[in-house]
Amino acid sequence: MGKKFYTPQEVAKRLDVAYMTVYRWIQSGKLRAYQLEKQYRIDPKDLKNFIEKGETIKRPAISSSLSKFIASGMFDYAYTASHRFSTDLTLGINPLGCSNKVSAFYKRKNIQFTDMPDPISKNLREKIAKVYGFEKKEVLTGDGATELIHLSYSTFMNPCDDVVIPETTFPPLEYMAILTQGNPQFIPSTSSFDLDYDKIESLITKNCKIVVLCNPNNPTGRQLNQEKTEKLVKELPDVVFLIDEALIDFGGISFLPLTKKYANLLVIRSFTKGFGLAGLRAGFIVGHKDLIYALSRRQIPFTIDIFAQELAKVALDDLEFLDKTKKYIAKERKYIEKELTKLHYSFAHSDANYLLVDISNKFASSKEFVKKLNEKGANVVDGTNFRGLGNTYIRVAVKHHETNKAFINILKTLDKK
Ligand SMILES: Cc1ncc(COP(=O)(O)O)c(C=O)c1O
Repeated sequence: MGKKFYTPQEVAKRLDVAYMTVYRWIQSGKLRAYQLEKQYRIDPKDLKNFIEKGETIKRPAISSSLSKFIASGMFDYAYTASHRFSTDLTLGINPLGCSNKVSAFYKRKNIQFTDMPDPISKNLREKIAKVYGFEKKEVLTGDGATELIHLSYSTFMNPCDDVVIPETTFPPLEYMAILTQGNPQFIPSTSSFDLDYDKIESLITKNCKIVVLCNPNNPTGRQLNQEKTEKLVKELPDVVFLIDEALIDFGGISFLPLTKKYANLLVIRSFTKGFGLAGLRAGFIVGHKDLIYALSRRQIPFTIDIFAQELAKVALDDLEFLDKTKKYIAKERKYIEKELTKLHYSFAHSDANYLLVDISNKFASSKEFVKKLNEKGANVVDGTNFRGLGNTYIRVAVKHHETNKAFINILKTLDKK
């Protein structure tokens, strides 16, 4: 056969994409291939047409995108407890811990981790449905909001489909799109860090299968505009709208009730934030029963372990803890905002537990700011970890009053530019 045809491996190398990407292009009929001796072969002419149609290389290769995220150091300094600073305002973990009911249950009840968990966490689903006023078939649980975002992408999107994502948001929304072979398209922000709704419609072409938005958003703390978002959901019934409400228990108005009105709207919640159960890894998704069924058919069984299933149920018995948390965050956010204003820092108005602070009044770069802060024993997230922010922003997580006060006192001692 000589060198007349390419193998999928050769195409993957030429286009700098994963082998599986090429395989799925072939499976979905996007890339023409011939099956010879049980191996696929691609005619160079078909490959040329495919490239000219603009189907490929609209996105970074999986490996480089993921390694960039890991190399950014977030995993090292934020997620590793032993690397934390004494005044640490990096992660948005609930400063009040979790409900006393959950910790008492954990201590009292000897959870049998030698037993198998329910593969589809039926009881937890039932409880969530009851607490939030849905039917069980409208709810699916997952290993945190993160798993449910990934599952939604892989269920409702084919390779090369577009997923529309805010430019500045929770970074895994982008890299999970790449992991699931999607093609992220970014919604720019306005100067007040809201979504630029005027730009969204032009991004939604026939290639777009999912729009994913955070309510409120990380790192800006901004909640979505209800009216403008609902208008989009209504006008684009073929697009799945995925609203990640992991931060909603800290503030903002939920889209949960709208899932009853729109079959293309899914809302994701987490036990990580307001419930304060970050290490458990539990979350849920709510929406039309047909979409939930489609998701459930693609989910790996047993993704929620026995502890998460048991303790999340207890957490749902204490919604007062969420009220207490919301009030505490609002009070502490106000405290930090007031002190930042006195120190002449500007920040985006936040509805949640994060404050996006502009340090350009006093420092040349966020890197310099964070370095000086670290030297004084405090830490925040450098805004360069987020797409579209440039190098003069930091993300501050609202913490316990003692920590917030210590942070402000350290800020007061930092040198001016
Ligand atoms: C907007 C947003 N979504 C999801 C998550 C992660 O949620 P989970 O721990 O349930 O996977 C975070 C965590 O920071 C977040 O900020």
